[in-house]
Amino acid sequence: MARVALLLGLNVLGHCLASPHSYSLLHNRDDAHDVYDYVVVGGGTAGLTVADRLSESGKYTVLAIEYGIIEPDGRRNRTNMYNITSVPQVNLNNRTFPVDVGCIVGGSSAVNAQGFQRGTKRDYNNWAELSGVNDSSWNWDDLQPYFRKAIQLGSGPHPDIARVYNMTYNAGSYGTNTSKHSIFATFSRGHTPAIIPIYQALRGYPGVEIPIDHSVGTLGLAWTPRSMEPISFNRSYSRSGHYDGLNRDNYHLLTATRVEKVVFKGKAAEGVEISPRWPEAHEGKGKGKGKINGKGSGKRVIRARKEIVLSAGAIHTPQILQLSGIGPASLLKQAKIPVIVDLPGVGANLQDHAYQPAVQFNWTTPPPYPEVNTTLPPIEAFLFGPGLNLMLGLPGISPTRYQSLAASYLSQSPSEFLPKHIHPTIIAGYAQQQRLYAAGMLDKNFAFSATGVGALPVAAPQLMHGLSRGTVTLNLSFPLSEPIVDYRFASNPLDLDIVAENIKFYRRFYTGPDSILRQYVDLTLGESQPGKGYQSDEGLKGWLRENLVPSVYHPSGTAAKMAREWGGVVNEGLEVYGVKGLSVVDTSIFPTIPGAATSMTVYAVAEKAADLIKARAVVVVGF
Ligand SMILES: Cc1cc2nc3c(=O)[nH]c(=O)nc-3n(C[C@H](O)[C@H](O)[C@H](O)COP(=O)(O)OP(=O)(O)OC[C@H]3O[C@@H](n4cnc5c(N)ncnc54)[C@H](O)[C@@H]3O)c2cc1C
Ligand SMILES: *[C@@H]1O[C@H](CO)[C@@H](O)[C@H](O)[C@H]1NC(C)=O
Ligand SMILES: *[C@@H]1O[C@H](CO)[C@@H](O)[C@H](O)[C@H]1NC(C)=O
Ligand SMILES: *[C@@H]1O[C@H](CO)[C@@H](O)[C@H](O)[C@H]1NC(C)=O
Ligand SMILES: *[C@@H]1O[C@H](CO)[C@@H](O)[C@H](O)[C@H]1NC(C)=O
Ligand SMILES: *[C@@H]1O[C@H](CO)[C@@H](O)[C@H](O)[C@H]1NC(C)=O
Ligand SMILES: *[C@@H]1O[C@H](CO)[C@@H](O)[C@H](O)[C@H]1NC(C)=O
Ligand SMILES: *[C@@H]1O[C@H](CO)[C@@H](O)[C@H](O)[C@H]1NC(C)=O
Ligand SMILES: *[C@@H]1O[C@H](CO)[C@@H](O)[C@H](O)[C@H]1NC(C)=O
Ligand SMILES: *[C@@H]1O[C@H](CO)[C@@H](O)[C@H](O)[C@H]1NC(C)=O
Ligand SMILES: *[C@@H]1O[C@H](CO)[C@@H](O)[C@H](O)[C@H]1NC(C)=O
Repeated sequence: MARVALLLGLNVLGHCLASPHSYSLLHNRDDAHDVYDYVVVGGGTAGLTVADRLSESGKYTVLAIEYGIIEPDGRRNRTNMYNITSVPQVNLNNRTFPVDVGCIVGGSSAVNAQGFQRGTKRDYNNWAELSGVNDSSWNWDDLQPYFRKAIQLGSGPHPDIARVYNMTYNAGSYGTNTSKHSIFATFSRGHTPAIIPIYQALRGYPGVEIPIDHSVGTLGLAWTPRSMEPISFNRSYSRSGHYDGLNRDNYHLLTATRVEKVVFKGKAAEGVEISPRWPEAHEGKGKGKGKINGKGSGKRVIRARKEIVLSAGAIHTPQILQLSGIGPASLLKQAKIPVIVDLPGVGANLQDHAYQPAVQFNWTTPPPYPEVNTTLPPIEAFLFGPGLNLMLGLPGISPTRYQSLAASYLSQSPSEFLPKHIHPTIIAGYAQQQRLYAAGMLDKNFAFSATGVGALPVAAPQLMHGLSRGTVTLNLSFPLSEPIVDYRFASNPLDLDIVAENIKFYRRFYTGPDSILRQYVDLTLGESQPGKGYQSDEGLKGWLRENLVPSVYHPSGTAAKMAREWGGVVNEGLEVYGVKGLSVVDTSIFPTIPGAATSMTVYAVAEKAADLIKARAVVVVGF
């Protein structure tokens, strides 16, 4: 029976086990050693990147532990996702929202939408400011080599298409290593003539700049690549770039296995306590059948000689920390979990990008678009469509109100819109973020709006730097069930004012005096969404309470790399404050969310983290 399951498993696992020597994936939980040099918790985007780098020299043994299993990648396929729902959002008419996170080898990089972008200079320079140290290397300049190490240029756009669509890109922002063990940014071969009218309208619109592409640290109308392999256009993700085909003796991956908590000896992290995802899959029966032989159904501790790296993502990393006794002491006491370190920042500071349904108009006649050469092969012609983004700072969105919005933000008391009874260090940290964001509101290169531009009239923008902060906390009645996620969106009321300004921007863009699209708009039928009825700020904000979505699945910030007196959870080396041998490497450590989709940044963070971890593993003798 077990043997049948194993054979089925090999069949399902496909090319990753095609090699005759495949040591990496453990089919039997009991085959995991009792101790490794490094234990990486979560085989997701950051986790597989770090595990690859820590194991590549062959000097260290590494175990990555993943709750999901090896499955074909697929965009937002529920089978490979956690099923978490946010708490009702009191400022969004009590609506609840899915908290989507990948549950699969590859993590969210296996299920995401493959938009591949980095933030601007101000985003990463803010990270340095929030460190509380003067010589932080977590800034734009020092991170660029890690972006180039993390992301290789798969290919630029097809020259014919580049010419027709004015696609430009900055090759120097990416690495040039074509090893298949890489993550690739590939410019779309998309070919949608319908994009031309909106592209031309945006190009000429006041305040819209045209950087060479999105990756150079400034904003505007820019082309973006996708996380795609060159030639095949397959998804490029942490499994394809940092796991498949490595087959290293010193690197094991255990799937369908949950890390419940970190176990300590005093303040030193010793190991992790694991349990099977499907206890009934013992000997190949039950749900895990054919995917993993889940023999070894009991709880077990696996120890790490050097370090435990938490890479379980911004929803589960804070949960694991809290279950381990690292978090706000008041919460841990309520949950009857012994406190190892009182760290109020664990699970605080949750940020995401929010989604504003598009402003839409009816057309009298659709704008004409030029005839272009469509003789390219179909795959190149249609795959995914061109990645064109309009990214704007507040001065571009609202030339008349950005200064007053920044002033009213700066005049808020930092504690005013944070959860009641929050720890003073969290307030101190938010005060720092408030200072930096207020300055960002005056900067045309700090994104408040990002719109993926497709064919007219669709344009659904995202709010890139929300001012509210949410929480991830244990479910007190069932600590091992999914954590409680509260985006607390619009708890800071200025969030909705900013998005309302963005609606007005798009109204002007379609029908204002500078608009070249106005001639095509059916001004009698008018705006179909939000609609003519929503004119006042109060009206628009009311519409947003009913229609805005507070997450586009980019959760960040819940174990932030910030000064401890500012509510930080990890230090400059990504080590958890107050303990030894435990670090965090994933989107949780972002002090503030970048004004860009998050995956490219998390790869760069993981590459830098791997260097930091390796540097501290070396014992220097004689100095
Ligand atoms: C639907 C969707 C669309 C997205 N679209 C884009 C996009 O177009 N562009 C972009 O840049 N970003 C996008 N993102 C966001 C981006 O993919 C994530 O921010 C990034 O991949 C997160 O990386 P991570 O390493 O922090 O976490 P993840 O990649 O989520 O990895 C965490 C891993 O830890 C595992 N895990 C969790 N808890 C445990 C436990 N207790 N024990 C063992 N394992 C555990 C999880 O199963 C998971 O595999 C999208 C995300 C989603 C979900
Ligand atoms: C989702 O993934 C499962 C498991 O790999 C697969 O069987 C199913 O066909 C996928 N569904 C879709 C819609 O792709
Ligand atoms: C989420 O629900 C789907 C069914 O819709 C299931 O296949 C999947 O295993 C669930 N995810 C988790 C992590 O339990
Ligand atoms: C949302 O729920 C809270 C608590 O149940 C309630 O007090 C409030 O009136 C609700 N708000 C709306 C708009 O329904
Ligand atoms: C940073 O530098 C300033 C002066 O340049 C100094 O006053 C301050 O103490 C330094 N802070 C730290 C944390 O080193
Ligand atoms: C490309 O840019 C040139 C100016 O550099 C402009 O004249 C032309 O219209 C642009 N092409 C498109 C498709 O907008
Ligand atoms: C290219 O990447 C591979 C895989 O990470 C690595 O082994 C190799 O050393 C890299 N080559 C260069 C020149 O950096
Ligand atoms: C691309 O993906 C397909 C389907 O999963 C697979 O058959 C093919 O081998 C992949 N190509 C490359 C170059 O990885
Ligand atoms: C107007 O546009 C909306 C979509 O924006 C569409 O649903 C509606 O049918 C259109 N109305 C007319 C009369 O064309
Ligand atoms: C159209 O594209 C094909 C393939 O690239 C090329 O051979 C042909 O010359 C192009 N025609 C024009 C008019 O540009
Ligand atoms: C806590 O978990 C239990 C069991 O999964 C669930 O029924 C309950 O709704 C959760 N509590 C909250 C506040 O979500």
